[in-house]
Amino acid sequence: MDKKIAIIGASGYTGWELIKLLFSRPGFDLVGLNSESNSGRPVSDLYPDADPKLKFTNYTIDEINRLEPNLVFLCQADGYAAANASKINSRVIDLSRDLRFAEGVVYGLPELNRKSIAASRLVANPGCYATACILAGLPAVQSGLVERIVFDCKSGYSGAGRTPSDRNDPKRIADNILAYKLSSHPHQNEIRQGLGLAAVSFTPHVLPVFRGIMATGHMILKKRTDAAMIRDKYRKFYAAEPFVRVMDRIPDLHDVQNTNLCCLGGFETDDADRLVVVATIDNLLKGASGQAVQNMNLMLGLPETEGLT
Ligand SMILES: NC(=O)c1ccc[n+]([C@@H]2O[C@H](COP(=O)([O-])OP(=O)(O)OC[C@H]3O[C@@H](n4cnc5c(N)ncnc54)[C@H](OP(=O)(O)O)[C@@H]3O)[C@@H](O)[C@H]2O)c1
Repeated sequence: MDKKIAIIGASGYTGWELIKLLFSRPGFDLVGLNSESNSGRPVSDLYPDADPKLKFTNYTIDEINRLEPNLVFLCQADGYAAANASKINSRVIDLSRDLRFAEGVVYGLPELNRKSIAASRLVANPGCYATACILAGLPAVQSGLVERIVFDCKSGYSGAGRTPSDRNDPKRIADNILAYKLSSHPHQNEIRQGLGLAAVSFTPHVLPVFRGIMATGHMILKKRTDAAMIRDKYRKFYAAEPFVRVMDRIPDLHDVQNTNLCCLGGFETDDADRLVVVATIDNLLKGASGQAVQNMNLMLGLPETEGLT
């Protein structure tokens, strides 16, 4: 029997990525594509590549429950999941930051929590910057090499969603780079928790690029360590990971756009015992909907990589 899937907040960028990943995948039925602002309209009004049969719905949560979906994705702005996730009877993956590290909710980074994700009813999908930074730092931190880290990150403007804001205003971002939340982005805490290291700082920037994140980690080492040896540690750490690639060169956005990959490279040290590691991901895929499908596969007992590249 087909797996029934509902998406709440389906008209946003992450909702559209989920529709693309699941619509043509055999064995899946999109039973609800909720959008308050676009209810009744064809999805192709917003996304011309969408199949003309697809329409936005606006079911109540009770109606969604009656459809008996196998899993519901929440792609709404912050606040929605905190108020509504517990009313949904099926498995839920929330893409907002509402439930990350909340009690009884599994943090959905498969490279950290694969087994608990598979057993969970409610998964909080990680933030896009946090995904890149945690994957960039994890092997070095878990090897006990790192004293502190500063992550300098750049994101495509789709990271700010479709909802208009000063971080996706076409006039403001054209030929420009915007720094924001220099020391107070909520992902800073998420990265600290994911890495299990308090001495982590993070500053994001928006680029005039649609999709992709580059996270450059400046890791101050406890003692001088050979960079090639560190790269080998990363290779071993991620050897079995289907979506993490450790490269000899410095990755860029072209390596990851439209994929669920996280590419790691750089691995240079300097005479101040700083290790530089560069991570790239597609913010809408490994940073959001691709990772959500990876988590869905685990939760529904399907092969983890199915439907993803
Ligand atoms: N974008 C990313 O790279 C990314 C990465 C990781 C996590 N996330 C998180 O995932 C969640 C969804 O992100 P998103 O990028 O898909 O957000 P989004 O594009 O802003 O869309 C989210 C919802 O906001 C409403 N919306 C969209 N455009 C609007 C407009 N012009 N006016 C009024 N309402 C509008 C829609 O709700 P209705 O359809 O119900 O009308 C839409 O489904 C957020 O919590 C975000 O923090 C995003």
